[in-house]
Amino acid sequence: MPLLRRLMPLKDRRADLARVIATEQINATRQRGLRLFELLPGDIVTAQARETAQRLGVALMDGPLERPAVVRTDGATAMRRSLYRRNPGWRAPEQKKRTTARRIKRLALVGAGGVGANIAHLCASADSAREITLIDITPGLAESIALDLRHASGISRSPAAITGGSDLALVAGADVVVVTAGRPRTPGMTRADLIQTNRRVILSTGQAIRDHAPGAIVIVVTNPLDEMTVEMQRATGFDRSRIIGMAGTLDSSRFRQAIADAAGVAVADVEAVTLGSHGEEMVPVVSRATIRGRTLSTWLTSQQIDDCVRATIGGGGAVVALRRNGSATLAPAHATVELIDHIRGARAGSVPASVMLQGEYGIDGVVLGVMCQFGASGLLQIDELKLSAAEQQALHDAATAIARRLAE
Ligand code: LAC
Repeated sequence: MPLLRRLMPLKDRRADLARVIATEQINATRQRGLRLFELLPGDIVTAQARETAQRLGVALMDGPLERPAVVRTDGATAMRRSLYRRNPGWRAPEQKKRTTARRIKRLALVGAGGVGANIAHLCASADSAREITLIDITPGLAESIALDLRHASGISRSPAAITGGSDLALVAGADVVVVTAGRPRTPGMTRADLIQTNRRVILSTGQAIRDHAPGAIVIVVTNPLDEMTVEMQRATGFDRSRIIGMAGTLDSSRFRQAIADAAGVAVADVEAVTLGSHGEEMVPVVSRATIRGRTLSTWLTSQQIDDCVRATIGGGGAVVALRRNGSATLAPAHATVELIDHIRGARAGSVPASVMLQGEYGIDGVVLGVMCQFGASGLLQIDELKLSAAEQQALHDAATAIARRLAE
């Protein structure tokens, strides 16, 4: 505590009157835990009081002492501090981790750009797959990353067998295939602008998966995410339980980070998810988001909450604008590995992912981000969240927009 805050309050002093400072005042000062007594001009201090002050270690200082300017705290910060004081023992809930995690037998990564390479890196480091195969049409790219990662294994001691090549048939025998191949956005482009180009990539990749890895679970990362997930289902003909679009885990991570930054708390203190599309019609679920178990409005103003929502929806675009020649790689890789961990049983509970809806939320035949539980066979169940009326509506608007884009 700063020295000056320990001073006796001003109301105890009457500068216009000469005070006699006796032993009692010194004793009272000490009893209040203070070690400083401010003497004002004209004060008379008894010899006994001086002796007591010395004995008790209370310094007698000639005043008036300068006082620091009052610090004005905004309402949200004051509320945050008082909540924390009331409940300082709050701990973020442990991430639900299972101890029965399996290793994926063969993980194939179609697309060895920044996202694919980082997924390979994370999975090799976490020992989540026995074999990792990178595939990319750019000659030498997948092979170079596989070699680079193998070079790292002398330090990481990762036992994964990592290979690379340019032939889509290398997906053969994979139990999980992650597809990141396709053109990324450049500044000024929306994800939807990529539909025509990336549809062709998804079609050829989907056919190769259907022919060479008919039992695989497919995670689609290529944009525009929701539309490409539909295209992948069409190309493979797989059941909806094995075609998963990665978006919600990424967008939710961005949402939690934005909230934590705005509230000045640790990201681990924040629970929040996004549903809907991976684009303009994203639905960050404000009504169910919490910081240390309390609703966002307890901590943040509505303007701050709106800013968090906007930062989440614009998160991918913000990286594209800075980078200029491509999109985000690290957060999308982490978000994909989160899904892989759910599939292999390293994480429990439900996570947001884009899957084909069959009547959930009253929506049918559109891929949309919803809360899903995954296991070794892919999608196990969809958990419908209780949403506010506005969020329900936003989810339906997202479904309509995706269906419209696919029909174009
Ligand atoms: C993003 C891209 C990968 O959101 O869609 O960063």
